[in-house]
Amino acid sequence: IKRITTNTLQKMKKAGEKISMLTAYDFSFAKVFDEAGLDVILVGDSASNVMAGHETTLPITLDQMIYHAQSVVRGVSRALVVADLPFGAYQSNQDIALASAIRMMKESGAHALKLEGGIEICDSVKKIVSAGIPVMGHLGLTPQSIYKFGTYTVRAKVDEEANKLKSDALALQEAGAFAIVLEKIPADLAKEVSASLTIPTIGIGAGNDCDGQVLVMHDMLGINNEFNPRFVRKYLNLHQVISTAAKQYIADVKSGSFPNEEESY
Ligand code: KIV
Ligand code: NA
Repeated sequence: IKRITTNTLQKMKKAGEKISMLTAYDFSFAKVFDEAGLDVILVGDSASNVMAGHETTLPITLDQMIYHAQSVVRGVSRALVVADLPFGAYQSNQDIALASAIRMMKESGAHALKLEGGIEICDSVKKIVSAGIPVMGHLGLTPQSIYKFGTYTVRAKVDEEANKLKSDALALQEAGAFAIVLEKIPADLAKEVSASLTIPTIGIGAGNDCDGQVLVMHDMLGINNEFNPRFVRKYLNLHQVISTAAKQYIADVKSGSFPNEEESY
């Protein structure tokens, strides 16, 4: 099978073909998504929330992100694997950013990295891209700066913030980013930004005019039934499916009906 590359994504934008992206954090799910034909798998630092149970994405470490990315890479033969650089791995200066980027690429085998932020990270983006590493940007709701904003509400609703986002997007493109995630911003703004860029935008809560869409796998599979923002479409109620299976297993063990003769040696 032909691998998806950053060039493929550029061509898809030109051709008006939408880009599909989901998160994954381990081998088994990555393999299912890859075999289903997903274009991009994001090893998101949302692993901090959905895998480790932290309230925010801040605590996850570069080592832990490398472990998740390694596992995902082993399950994938077609999709482009993008790994998040976690909080603390790139914000302090360009040299630290490049060192973290090289560690992630070398140790995990991921194909590209994602960093949150606009103009303030562009020097680091340039440096990482110069080293031959493709970078995806991430604007709008950027969970690594949650304590600066204080809420997870829609971003860039006022002109001043919208204008900043537009110039951040252009700056990231100029710095060499190959795509940008737009998270939780008005659909009209995402449409305008997408039209203004030659690189693709991938939306999450950013309307239907982005060049692609991304969701956290646990959200779209309905594994956590307590998180229901309007931008999530639930394709499964996996919480219920798994709970039903677990309850049946427990009952079968308790009643002595599992294992039966055929399930024994
Ligand atoms: O970590 C993550 O899951 C993400 C997506 C929401 C874009 O960054
Ligand atoms: Na992330």
